[in-house]
Amino acid sequence: MKLSFTTIVTTLFIVLANTAYADAASDTIALVKNAKADCMQCHQIDKKIVGPSWKEVAAKYKGDATAQEVLVAKVIKGGNGHWNDQTGGLPMTPHPVKPPKEDIEKIIASLLQL
Ligand code: HEC
Repeated sequence: MKLSFTTIVTTLFIVLANTAYADAASDTIALVKNAKADCMQCHQIDKKIVGPSWKEVAAKYKGDATAQEVLVAKVIKGGNGHWNDQTGGLPMTPHPVKPPKEDIEKIIASLLQL
C-alpha cells in the first residue's frame, strides 16, 4: 500500500490530538486524586453522571476569561442552576475547606484545558 503524504500527516495529527486530550484528562484526574477531592463521585471527564461532564464544562466556558475565577468560587460555595437540563436541578455540594483553594484552582485550570 502506498500512503500519501496527506494520509500520513492527517494520521499523525489525529494521534497527536488524541494524545493531547488524553494528557489533559489524566492530568486533571491526577490533580483530583492528589488533592484527595471528591469531584469524581459526581463528575467524569466525558460523561455526565450527577454533574455535567468536565469536557462539556470546558466547552461551555471556552474563551471566557472570567471562567477560572468564577468556577473556583462556584466549587467552593457550591451551587446550581447552570446545568439544570442535565442535572434536573441537583446542586453541587460546597467545598469550603477541602480540598484547599490552591488545589481547586489547579483542578479548574486543568479542567478548562479539556
Ligand atoms: C455531590 C456531587 C458533586 C461533587 C462532589 C462535585 N460536583 Fe461539581 N457539579 C455538580 C453538579 C450537580 C453541578 C451542576 C451545578 C449547576 O447546575 O449549576 C456541578 C457543576 C460543576 C462545574 C460547572 C459549574 C458551572 O457553573 O458551570 C464545575 C467546574 C465543577 N462542578 C467542578 C467540580 C470540582 C472541581 C469538584 C471537586 C472539588 C466537584 N465539582 C465536585 C455536582 C458535584
